[in-house]
Amino acid sequence: MSKNNFTPLANGADPDDIGNNTSNNPTMHDILAARIGRRGFMLGSAGAAVFGSMGLTGCLGLGGSSGSSAAPAAAAPAETLLGFKPVAKSLADAFIVPEGYTASVIYAKGDPLFAGVAAFKNDGTDTGYDQRAGDHHDGMQYFGLNAAGKADQTGASRGLLAMNHEYIEQVTLFAAGPTALPRPAAEADIEIACHGVSVVEVAKGGNGRFATVQTSPFNRRVTAETTIELAGPARGSSLMVTKFSTDGTRTRGTLNNCGTGKTPWGTLLTGEENWSGYFKRGSDAAARSAKEITSLTRYGRAAGVNSRYGWETAGTDDRYVRWDITATGASAAADYRNEINGQGYMTEINPYDRNSVVKKRTSTGRFAHEGAAFSLLKTGKPLAIYMGDDSQFEYIYKYVSDAVWDPADAKPADPMATGDKYLDKGKLYVAKFNADGTGTWLELSMANPLIAGYSTYAFADQADILVNARLAADAAGATKMDRPEWSSTHPTTGDIYFTLTNNSGRVTSGSDASKVVDAANPRSYTDVKGGTSTQKGNVNGHILRLAEQGDANATTFKWDVYLFGSEAGAIASINLSGLTDINDFSSPDGLQFAESTGICWIQTDDGGYTDMTNDQMLAALPGRVGDGGKVSVANGSVLVDTYVGKKPTSDTLKRFLVGPKGCEVTGVAETPDGKVMFVNIQHPGEGTAVGDLGDPSKYVSQWPSNSGYGAGKRPRSATVMITKNDGGRIGT
Ligand code: FEO
Ligand code: CA
Ligand code: CA
Ligand code: CA
Repeated sequence: MSKNNFTPLANGADPDDIGNNTSNNPTMHDILAARIGRRGFMLGSAGAAVFGSMGLTGCLGLGGSSGSSAAPAAAAPAETLLGFKPVAKSLADAFIVPEGYTASVIYAKGDPLFAGVAAFKNDGTDTGYDQRAGDHHDGMQYFGLNAAGKADQTGASRGLLAMNHEYIEQVTLFAAGPTALPRPAAEADIEIACHGVSVVEVAKGGNGRFATVQTSPFNRRVTAETTIELAGPARGSSLMVTKFSTDGTRTRGTLNNCGTGKTPWGTLLTGEENWSGYFKRGSDAAARSAKEITSLTRYGRAAGVNSRYGWETAGTDDRYVRWDITATGASAAADYRNEINGQGYMTEINPYDRNSVVKKRTSTGRFAHEGAAFSLLKTGKPLAIYMGDDSQFEYIYKYVSDAVWDPADAKPADPMATGDKYLDKGKLYVAKFNADGTGTWLELSMANPLIAGYSTYAFADQADILVNARLAADAAGATKMDRPEWSSTHPTTGDIYFTLTNNSGRVTSGSDASKVVDAANPRSYTDVKGGTSTQKGNVNGHILRLAEQGDANATTFKWDVYLFGSEAGAIASINLSGLTDINDFSSPDGLQFAESTGICWIQTDDGGYTDMTNDQMLAALPGRVGDGGKVSVANGSVLVDTYVGKKPTSDTLKRFLVGPKGCEVTGVAETPDGKVMFVNIQHPGEGTAVGDLGDPSKYVSQWPSNSGYGAGKRPRSATVMITKNDGGRIGT
């Protein structure tokens, strides 16, 4: 087996930037009239940004402009939200926070999760990742504990971080890079174990700062191989039958976990995003029904596609064979043709019991899940969960529980049974955005005649609708969006915010009207990157928000665009939110309103503006839907009316941190008092080549070792803890 020539996923490729939506859904393009009166925007002056201190050595000489002491001040200082000095854009290989803040790594890829696990060598020879931190840290939630180690959502001195490990940095996992096909079982085992979720206890020490607790009874790894129950309407469906679960009630693994949600009863929801590509499908059309072929094609598995990592080639053991979904057996119970139907849900994990059964909530629909934003709680009213499907031209969804909220469920005796109550019976909707600033939730059920009578795919029942939610949404006439990523709910207004990260496929005109700019996805332009290349479409992304017209089960809403991503120097028809040097950004992805301060944290996963800055996190204080007005966006000569929120100012939108080279900033959680923040850095050094592994000076990044953390110089995804040196809340 030859080394160094296996690259199933091109370095730097964003695997979710690929659409499979070929439906002819109606768009607003036809009903948009060209209008004049476009607004011009003044570009604000650049703020004086400051490189902050990491409180760690090796930060490439940056920072040091404030002390590294983390000792809290005796008296609480006066507080101003967003009172910090903004951080400047940066291309340095460093994690940079504002003056007066301290950042330190606490949980990096490969770190032992349990006492007795060998220290991480970080040279590509480590094994046993089911006992270590996985790779590609992503969405994350904090779950409080009291001093006695019991669940307590107010616990700010001791708690659990539950975080996703989305995928892997394959090059740096092995001493000389990954082996070509067929994959050695030992390598596949490492890669499979690096996926999934970590639950890790963190506790505050005498210095006011947190560290992980390796002896914790809560620590747990869920991987791409963990046995998981299927729950909700698709449990037991014929679509779920596999050789592993002939009654269709179980599957294995949670895969490509991206965003998260925190349920009101204290469990984690983890979103399964780009799972489709993990499965190989051979040329099995003759053994497949027409419906199966339609479904597989819609989810990116046309016949004759290879898998992302080739795990199905690692041996004859069932745990490798399952990654090949080619129909080869006498029936679905004899092979893994349906294995792919077991991925793509919101999956619920009780972080407070490492022996508890994990459940996939099939009621949330099968698609490329991102975050899960809950509606504000109202006693006696249903709960809604707002969810994005991240691929080009995919949709925004809402799940509404049949059960109504009972405050007694905030402290459940059995959290997973409470999950059964709220998450297994309900309705799934998809969003249609109208050109007049209103929107409609379209129900995905047989009660919808567009679904019951869909000619492309004859749905059998609700299980079929949920497993093929994208097809049902096509049938219902949903609006194709610019890659919906994370969602979060404003803590006081209840407005729901969605990042729409970018869409290189959005055009101003063309024969496929469904890809043409519309009111909710109104920009398509050409951007120059690095003076050498150009990028097209919605290059920088935007953040949409919606306000329900009624309770969580409302079927209509109002919407506007809270922010348009842009370079500060872009022309006004691109920089529609008037961003300046202290707050310009591109490709918003992670999004989370803070529980304590209400600050909206915006994280980027960008390829558009990375010639000027590494990925970053901004702090925002948004208003509400409708606080701005109608504007006409000029995409060259093509004008599109949309609704834009009030423009941010230097007091309401500021850059808070910039990450190291080649990373994505993703996942943010805070202690309930708002004084300690945890942020994830994913894939620093992305793009490091196999041939450069022997020479650390050639690594794209050496973070976090260059800030003094851990052995070896290979870059590692990691959780960073941030505190304010005066003991105040984060973001003040
Ligand atoms: Fe995993 Fe679409 O971000
Ligand atoms: Ca540019
Ligand atoms: Ca992401
Ligand atoms: Ca992304």
